[in-house]
Amino acid sequence: MEEREISQAVIRRLPRYYRYLGELLEHDVERISSNDLSKRMKVTASQIRQDLNNFGGFGQQGYGYNVKYLYTEIGKILGLDVKHNIIIIGAGNLGQALANYEAFESRGFLLKGIFDVNPKLTGISVRGIPIRTMEDLVDFLKVNEIEIGVLTIPKEYAVEVAGLLTANGVKAIWNFAHIDLNLPPNIVVENVHLSESLMRLSYNITRCNAEQKNEK
Ligand code: NAI
Repeated sequence: MEEREISQAVIRRLPRYYRYLGELLEHDVERISSNDLSKRMKVTASQIRQDLNNFGGFGQQGYGYNVKYLYTEIGKILGLDVKHNIIIIGAGNLGQALANYEAFESRGFLLKGIFDVNPKLTGISVRGIPIRTMEDLVDFLKVNEIEIGVLTIPKEYAVEVAGLLTANGVKAIWNFAHIDLNLPPNIVVENVHLSESLMRLSYNITRCNAEQKNEK
């Protein structure tokens, strides 16, 4: 497929297409029209056509989309056709919850190690993976090709730890700490803030309540 620049807005929508197409595949659906996909996903059919046109002729007039093909191609665009080795730094509530989530593995994200400063946690296993002390981190990074570091530590330490990871070959940070990391441009950072999602929910509840009040 031809390589072309795809906007971040489209990239943000791709995982959702990927999920829906995966569900269709599980139900042995071979093809789907943009109208049917639109009804399921509650996105306009024209948005779907526009988004998917970015990747060339996936759809055919009168046929719709070949689900398997589209699923595979979107997977490739998202880099899900290759394995990504990850480690988690901070084995507290969130770190352990993420480590326990098996579904990441099926998407190609392989958890190779968990690290924490708390000596009481050293040696405890999460899904068979032992929590290691931070003192072992640099040596571990020398012998394991780790692409992604997950930061689930207090924000006070996040910048320093992100620096240590990237200085030792880690290329991307999945950052849960509530702080901007300001890393070099060749390092990919994805910040995750559940509270922002909750604030959007709060906004929508407030708006919905106001509309209902006005209708009365
Ligand atoms: P927690 O206190 O249960 O776990 C934090 C762990 O990090 C502890 O085990 C601690 O020993 C370890 N730690 C502290 N400093 C460290 C360092 N320098 N190197 C390695 N390990 C270190 O906290 P929890 O609830 O798991 O939250 C972790 C972080 O994630 C916090 O910064 C919290 O604010 C953030 N958070 C972010 C969310 C988001 O949506 N972005 C949601 C929930 C938590």
